[in-house]
Amino acid sequence: MQDNGREIVISFRGVRKAFGSNLVFSSLDLDIVRGETITIMGGSGMGKSVALKFLVGLLKPDDGEVLVLGQRVNDFNEEEWLPTRRRVSMLFQSGALFDSLNVRENIAYPLRIHFPQMTEEEISEKVAQKLTLVGLPGIERMKPVDLSGGMKKRVGLARAIATEPEVILWDEPTTGLDPINTSRINSLIRRMQEVLECTSVVVTHDMASAFTVSDRIAFLYDKRIVMVDTVEKVKESELPAVKNFITGRFEGLYPEDKGADHGK
Ligand SMILES: Nc1ncnc2c1ncn2[C@@H]1O[C@H](COP(=O)(O)OP(=O)(O)OP(=O)(O)O)[C@@H](O)[C@H]1O
Ligand SMILES: [Mg+2]
Repeated sequence: MQDNGREIVISFRGVRKAFGSNLVFSSLDLDIVRGETITIMGGSGMGKSVALKFLVGLLKPDDGEVLVLGQRVNDFNEEEWLPTRRRVSMLFQSGALFDSLNVRENIAYPLRIHFPQMTEEEISEKVAQKLTLVGLPGIERMKPVDLSGGMKKRVGLARAIATEPEVILWDEPTTGLDPINTSRINSLIRRMQEVLECTSVVVTHDMASAFTVSDRIAFLYDKRIVMVDTVEKVKESELPAVKNFITGRFEGLYPEDKGADHGK
């Protein structure tokens, strides 16, 4: 698949998803091209994490198509997902490190699944290399419980990039971090693009972070994407849903609030 000569690596086409009576997406459409960093923005509960979960097989759409690296993944079984999960890696909102394993074993985990032939020496080398890349060399023996929030996020990233994926999915990478760690993560997102030529899909409510790292921003509102464009164009947008989000105005942020009696 091509878009103006650029390869489309991820595509949502008319994706519908409901959990019981809770309709999350009526028709989600979005193409993501190789090498770009795109941020998906939208209020809490609008389905940002759900959208990422389609891309690693943690959730399935009810209708429409999800294409990942040229394959329709809607009906993939666990075995079919395996090679795709080596190439598309997700950095979870919660960090999701295994508390019982030290940092080395957390990062080694995907290597053992995807490269069962790898020797312990090769694993040590990969782990050390990824820890250096995220700015935490030498912490192999530490346990997750002894790490700060910012360090956990970076170890999570080291684990996500252990298999050298082509696509990284970042779910709220800066939420809950102090400004220093936030800017560290922002520069890591950029570095993944520059050094490893990764495609990044970032989900965040953090406007400053989105403006810093993104080539394009996609806005989720009213169960679909209402705008996808460059940072500059998004900043100039007159669409109320986008404008209100950027300026932090509550009114019009959530469709169910239309016409509500705010602040009285
Ligand atoms: N496994 C699930 N079962 C039932 N409902 C779910 C499930 N996962 C998500 N939902 C619902 O889908 C909606 C979207 O959830 P999602 O986690 O994607 O929101 P989000 O945009 O990531 O929000 P936040 O910014 O708070 O992380 C919510 O109403 C949530 O309750
Ligand atoms: Mg979420």
